[in-house]
Amino acid sequence: MVKLIGKKKINCAVFISGRGSNLKSILSYSKKNNSKINIRLVICNKPSVNGVNFAKKNKIETKIVNYKNKYKAEKKITNYLKKNNIELIFLAGFMKILSKYFVNKYKNKIINIHPSLLPKYKGLNTHKRAIINKEKFSGCTVHFVTEKLDSGRIILQQKVKILSTDDYKSLSKRVLKVENKLYPKAINKLLSNF
Ligand code: GAR
Repeated sequence: MVKLIGKKKINCAVFISGRGSNLKSILSYSKKNNSKINIRLVICNKPSVNGVNFAKKNKIETKIVNYKNKYKAEKKITNYLKKNNIELIFLAGFMKILSKYFVNKYKNKIINIHPSLLPKYKGLNTHKRAIINKEKFSGCTVHFVTEKLDSGRIILQQKVKILSTDDYKSLSKRVLKVENKLYPKAINKLLSNF
């Protein structure tokens, strides 16, 4: 479990790669009176994406990390995390795979949202694969990050019905709306004892 005792707000970082709708929903949750988190840092591997613009507008320290060399990138990230006393990391559409070394360094302190009903459809193109396989439901999962891709303990999960008229775009859109509610709910659940 995350060990965060005797503090009012927990310093958190959000890692993104693009649009940032989950970042947005986590940030607005963090501003609620009863929230225990403070978003201090945004890490992104791409410059000038919507999520970065949003973070800057909201005056959150934002670092763009070049991922050509994963080792160097993670070293930089670790420094930023230390500098900002980050205790909890939320991956929100971060499309890079963290190294075993990094994941173990922040063991039980990295949370991810994935657009499928894990353990089904790990990896990419989740909704497309669910439609092709004629699944009745897709959905999303908030879970701990471990060395194994999309495999850590599940915190919360929500189903979304696949309609006969759905293509992966319409389904992704509907699931994203659910994701944006599920992520804050999962954080709240995770920290309810602190
Ligand atoms: C979300 O659908 C999230 O579940 C997915 O990327 C999207 C990011 O949207 N993450 C993954 O696929 C990670 N494996 P956002 O930038 O609007 O939050």
